[in-house]
Amino acid sequence: RAEADPHRPRFHFVSPAGWLNDPNGVSQWNGTYHLFYQYNPEGAFHHRILWGHATSTDLVTWTDQPVALEPTDGPDSPDADGCWSGVLVNDAGTPTLVYSGRHGEHELPCVAVGSPDLLTWTKAPENPVIAAPPSGVDVTAYRDHCVWREGSRWRQLVGSGIRGRGGTAFLYESADLRSWDYIGPLFIGDASARDPAATDWEGTMWECVDLFRAGPGTLGDAGGPADGGPADDVLVFSAWDDGDTRHPLYWTGRYAGDSYTPRQLRRLDYGSRYFYAPQSFADDAGRRVMFGWLQEGRTDEAMVEAGWSGVMSLPRVATLDDQGELAFTPVPEVESLRRDHVRIGPREVADSSVLARVSGNQLDLELELELEPGSVFRLGILASGISRAGTSQNPAEETVIEVGRAAGNSGDSWLRLDRSGSSLDHSVDAEERSGPVPLPGGKLHLRVLVDRSALEIFANGKPLTARVYPTLGGTAVRLSAVGNVRLRQLDAWRMEDAFTGPRPLFP
Ligand code: FRU
Repeated sequence: RAEADPHRPRFHFVSPAGWLNDPNGVSQWNGTYHLFYQYNPEGAFHHRILWGHATSTDLVTWTDQPVALEPTDGPDSPDADGCWSGVLVNDAGTPTLVYSGRHGEHELPCVAVGSPDLLTWTKAPENPVIAAPPSGVDVTAYRDHCVWREGSRWRQLVGSGIRGRGGTAFLYESADLRSWDYIGPLFIGDASARDPAATDWEGTMWECVDLFRAGPGTLGDAGGPADGGPADDVLVFSAWDDGDTRHPLYWTGRYAGDSYTPRQLRRLDYGSRYFYAPQSFADDAGRRVMFGWLQEGRTDEAMVEAGWSGVMSLPRVATLDDQGELAFTPVPEVESLRRDHVRIGPREVADSSVLARVSGNQLDLELELELEPGSVFRLGILASGISRAGTSQNPAEETVIEVGRAAGNSGDSWLRLDRSGSSLDHSVDAEERSGPVPLPGGKLHLRVLVDRSALEIFANGKPLTARVYPTLGGTAVRLSAVGNVRLRQLDAWRMEDAFTGPRPLFP
């Protein structure tokens, strides 16, 4: 049933069927990439979560592997109600998972050890390896893990929040991944009466904390970033609250000794809830590769009806830009799926024109643009069976990606995603996303990847991920401009499927 859904992506990773959420244990082991994920094969809803598993040699095509972890029944089992998010570490050659075992309404850290091929996992008899959250602290929640080697010891962060104060991550240390000493909160965020819609809203709990060194050196290196140089220890987290509001954020700052000195808080993906619970790893090439979960924008009923839910982002490489912010680009391996190249430009962008030779619902678009002050560029993804020879002022469905540059010398420029006309189905989410985008000298490199309902935008390295559910076929692309916008070059490709053939639920 899932395969028949026209909204199901073909070159993003999706679970064989049922429900998918967070990426887990993302890693490269003996050359092979591993992607585990929060999985409910029983249906497209979040319940009794297992760890799904897929492997890849190129980050493009994935092979389903047997379920890695599943809940153990029993009153004393720490994960009787779910194997929640976690990571994979290399314990002197032994693949080891650290995850959150869920029992009742609570989660506690657990460990499982893998066979050399990472296909068979045995839970540690010591589980849970931490018996309770720090005593005397009123926590809002306590789950998800970031684990790394520092000298001869392991360090771990567990995501949490302190009621009435803010989100946090508790820092622990261990010699063997089984017995952990509590050090303290890495630092505590600020949850004081903020508007959940605000760009710096931190939630009451930090889910899926991911601390890494962006740039040279390794985490905890005494010789890390040169004194006075840009701080580049990045703490990614997903701001969570009891309500529906959630969004991904990151701190830049400096991790040293037992604490973290935050410098700046920024949104990831403009606070889009469609890039959630990201997790990253350093691959053999030294790249910082990140995956995130693209949740659905349709109703619970529609998901269950479709038989599947949740898309994994394309793997993206994270770097620090010269502003000390994260910049992203999809891994270049994705380009191997490009077919039927079309090149357009240079030319001025007219009022509105539909690209004659670009169509289809699996696309990779790459544009080089120049915007004069006071101009606005728009790229519309249309679904309508529109006449491709002509223009149309009223296409039936259109998703609009807009980049604008303010008049005068303010230097202001923005990116905006307008999904208000994306679908004739008004039950799907159509919330707008926007925020500043760097546009040095008016120059814009825009990358747009369309994979049916999955949309990933990269504007001068700033990502914005979303879901769209057009009801009509016949996808086309139209460009329009207000003011002076020069298209130096547009390259477009149809994207090949990365998945073929039936995918059993339990390989
Ligand atoms: C984030 C999250 C994690 C948790 C997992 C459960 O989306 O809520 O905090 O471990 O999903 O599936």
